[in-house]
Amino acid sequence: MPVPVWRPVRVGAVPPPATAFQPRTGLREEIDRLRARHATVVLTQVLSGGGGVGKSQLAAACAHRAHADGVDVLVWVNAAETSQIVATYATAAHRVGVPGADGQDADSDAAAFLDWLAVTDRTWLVILDDLTRPRRRQAVVAPPTGR
Ligand SMILES: Nc1ncnc2c1ncn2[C@@H]1O[C@H](COP(=O)(O)OP(=O)(O)OP(=O)(O)O)[C@@H](O)[C@H]1O
Ligand SMILES: [Mg+2]
Repeated sequence: MPVPVWRPVRVGAVPPPATAFQPRTGLREEIDRLRARHATVVLTQVLSGGGGVGKSQLAAACAHRAHADGVDVLVWVNAAETSQIVATYATAAHRVGVPGADGQDADSDAAAFLDWLAVTDRTWLVILDDLTRPRRRQAVVAPPTGR
């Protein structure tokens, strides 16, 4: 039986770089340093700051680079509403072929996607853009731990 071919999965629309994009090298290097120190575990990074300071642009730059580097799974979530997070995770579950994610129930598919992230050997990057009140939504957005 032929072995299924893995193709990189891209879910969500990563914003394009702003006109006259400034790479903000110092911040990027700080992120790279943290990633390098946690190469074999899941790393959660929070970019916080006032409106319009460039959080989404910085995250998008990380996403574009991860894409160029060939990350297996890249998910950009518009996280302003919990329902959007659930719907995007459910789509991602379907796209990566999470067992049991059959499109019948978005909540359980989204939960299955988080479970899959926790155990997969695939490389992945999930960006939650515009996330407010993360503690209240911990059950939905909680990143997996342990790897
Ligand atoms: N690195 C950058 N280089 C050039 N322009 C930038 C950069 N970062 C942000 N901008 C400009 O600032 C605008 C707002 O940036 P961005 O959407 O990333 O902010 P934000 O912090 O995510 O804002 P919000 O809190 O409203 O989501 C961009 O549309 C762009 O015009
Ligand atoms: Mg933003």
